[in-house]
Amino acid sequence: MITLKVNGKSFRIKDDPDTPLLWVLRDSLGLTGTKYGCGISACGACTVHLDGQAVRSCVTPVSRAAGKRITTIEGLSRKGDHPVQKAWVKLEVAQCGYCQSGQIMAAAALLATNRNPTDADIDSAMSGNLCRCATYQRVRDAIKAAARTSGKEA
Ligand code: FES
Ligand code: FES
Repeated sequence: MITLKVNGKSFRIKDDPDTPLLWVLRDSLGLTGTKYGCGISACGACTVHLDGQAVRSCVTPVSRAAGKRITTIEGLSRKGDHPVQKAWVKLEVAQCGYCQSGQIMAAAALLATNRNPTDADIDSAMSGNLCRCATYQRVRDAIKAAARTSGKEA
């Protein structure tokens, strides 16, 4: 048995310790907002936070997440009102949406440590999050918009 703390709640799970966190989240806990894209840490669709840091859950053994704070897109905010989520809606970032929970989690982790990221900071933090619909420019604009509003809300 492994105890996980996900989005503020504790869960005891029976999965093998080597199981990727992504599958525990999706299949054992039903948190399907985190997506499977590549399974080899190459696309960012599966990004979640471990103790506030963005990680690729497809290559993170669940044993590595034990004892850490795990946050998924479902737990990023109570009402979908994290500054990043609000900026995403306002700027209509999403197209098909498949990559977007990963994009949002990566952006939220960036802004948690860098309140005023430059274009280079954004490119560096987001370069591993691929989008087949090519929403990159709106992702960048939304991160800047969220940076402005998070400063005001803090
Ligand atoms: S599914 Fe994890 S990085 Fe692509
Ligand atoms: S919005 Fe379609 S893959 Fe990014």
